[in-house]
Amino acid sequence: MERRNQPIAVFDSGVGGISVLREMVRLMPNENFYFRGDSIHAPFGTRPFHEIQKLTLDNIAHMAQKGIKGIVIACNTATSVAIELLRNTYIDIPVVGIEPALKPAVMESRHGKVLVMATPMTVHAEKFCRLMAQYQGEAEIIPLGCPGLMEFVEAGSLEGPRLQEYLKKLLTPKLLEGVNSIVLGCTHYPFVRGAIREITGPGPHLIDGSEGTARELQRRLDEFDLLTDRKERGTVVFEESIPDKIKLCRFLLERDVWAE
Ligand code: DGL
Repeated sequence: MERRNQPIAVFDSGVGGISVLREMVRLMPNENFYFRGDSIHAPFGTRPFHEIQKLTLDNIAHMAQKGIKGIVIACNTATSVAIELLRNTYIDIPVVGIEPALKPAVMESRHGKVLVMATPMTVHAEKFCRLMAQYQGEAEIIPLGCPGLMEFVEAGSLEGPRLQEYLKKLLTPKLLEGVNSIVLGCTHYPFVRGAIREITGPGPHLIDGSEGTARELQRRLDEFDLLTDRKERGTVVFEESIPDKIKLCRFLLERDVWAE
């Protein structure tokens, strides 16, 4: 197959990366995508640094064998520990990651408070600390590790009393301090946006980085002259280390692409 028509690899620790995939499909419907989730090893966000790095590299090596023209790490956690290594390994194709969308949140909430919900690893990683230092003067940035939240999405529980109770406990103390924007800094979280909104009420803006990541991918593919010339709609192929999850993958993609 001609290089420009090969699939784009999209990786996450589980099904969360589909929130990024859906934006890429919207923006570049004629591209072929190859999504892989490693749910058997999820969550990544509570594992040690080197373990996450190895899991990410092993998954991408597996995907690369199949012939891909670009790599998207649709996982804030894996991006924060492995993106440099991946860029140094796959030098002839674009490698795009995702990080908590602090910039748009700070723009909207200058001199206000920005709450960043993410996995424990993401909020402790050096990459995030550098990002936070960059914007700390413009708004008050409050990182909030959310251990246990991605598990609701992995289980397909996008609403319900248990999730509400979890979110209430997690968010209420922060909301009482007054928050202007909330960054959804884990790709699983956009799928529980509605449940988060129920707790926050209409006040704070909820921001995630998936649209920006899709645009960045398009820009980088163009730079490498790798945008497809296919005239018809592309395909999405799913692969999961827990094959039973593929049904949930399809549900999440369709629910959000076609019914929102
Ligand atoms: N979806 C992932 C992220 O964006 C991580 C979830 C996890 O494995 O802990 O950070």
